[in-house]
Amino acid sequence: MVSTKYQNMLTAKSVIREMAEFAAMRGNEIGYENVFDFSLGNPSVPVPPRFSEAIIELLGTKTSRELHGYSPSLGIQAVKEKITSHLNHRYKMTYTANHIFMTAGAAGAIAHALRLVTNPGDKVLTFAPYFPEYAPYVNLSGAKLEIVPPDMVDFQIDFACFEEMLTAEVTAVLINTPHNPTGAIYNEATLTQMAELMTAKQKEYGHDIFLISDEPYRDVVFSGQNQPYISSYYANTLSCFSYSKSHSIPGERIGYLAVNPAATAADLLVPMSGQISRGIGHNCPASLIQLAIAETLDVTVDMSVYETNMNILYNELLALGFNCRKPEGTFYIFPQALEADAAVFCRKALAYDLILVPSDSFGCPGHFRIAYCIQTEKVERSLSAFRRFVEEEYDKKSH
Ligand SMILES: Cc1ncc(COP(=O)(O)O)c(C=O)c1O
Repeated sequence: MVSTKYQNMLTAKSVIREMAEFAAMRGNEIGYENVFDFSLGNPSVPVPPRFSEAIIELLGTKTSRELHGYSPSLGIQAVKEKITSHLNHRYKMTYTANHIFMTAGAAGAIAHALRLVTNPGDKVLTFAPYFPEYAPYVNLSGAKLEIVPPDMVDFQIDFACFEEMLTAEVTAVLINTPHNPTGAIYNEATLTQMAELMTAKQKEYGHDIFLISDEPYRDVVFSGQNQPYISSYYANTLSCFSYSKSHSIPGERIGYLAVNPAATAADLLVPMSGQISRGIGHNCPASLIQLAIAETLDVTVDMSVYETNMNILYNELLALGFNCRKPEGTFYIFPQALEADAAVFCRKALAYDLILVPSDSFGCPGHFRIAYCIQTEKVERSLSAFRRFVEEEYDKKSH
């Protein structure tokens, strides 16, 4: 019998994917170069040259089995040791290889983390606006996602709402910083207050509350900004890292889960992840890619393009009268739409070949997301489309 659960999900497909599909279709009609496709977070900057060089060198020096055979179910030991040294050196942590589990990107890490620290029916909190895929990530794990309303001032955390929702049924809190879709970074004050509150609630309820920290943009931070290392604030932290954005390799599906050595059952959580993999089939990430990552831990793509794009768009959006917070990292910006219904706003933008994502599925109506991980030349060309759009539809002029 066909699964009703997954069949029902077909009526609630990803808006981001739908917008991207529309952009591709429109591209077939008028040439993709003429479509201002701001839909997907698919990095535009080429991979770091050292990553390509490492792959070529590995292909010439390792055996076929080392390169293309099944990797060990918890990850290649030598790779995990290098990641451990990198994290310990950079963030003053005390990880050993036994705290690292190699995964298929951040999505794979989160899939394991959720199953590690929840039982069916437990509640998981996240904060609006949130990455829409968190709904299937959490709900299909058997836990239940609940959304803490947004802090609209600076996209930090509304602690009054958080405290009210942090009930005894909550066993995990899922955060993302630098943040998709706003580009905000949780600052030290936010992280300290969050850790204090969660520590107090663990004591009050007599059970663990884990922090699942989704960090695919950890290295995508603009000049003058700093992303504090989340796990150093709270012992029960599971860090979900990915090379999708920092190495521009989302198609390679590689990342890891790092268990804070001071977490409850820290020595069990990685072996338990190996058992979870058996069930969900997200097992044994590609050996070649793990080996290439281990050779390039200290490099990233050239992020300056994203900051350049952000500044161009931010300045123009302000000039056009949008209400918008300046991103501190990522390659997203999250302005308020010029009418209450963001879906209507984004539909009108399509007539100008501007592909924007309405914010409803991010749990924060009335906004839209621009993913500006595209060529700067195209961002510059898009400005006249933005100007025509707001002038013709909303009677606004650039100042
Ligand atoms: C906030 C957030 N979390 C997780 C992911 C999944 O990333 P990955 O490719 O590492 O699985 C993404 C991808 O865009 C994301 O934006």
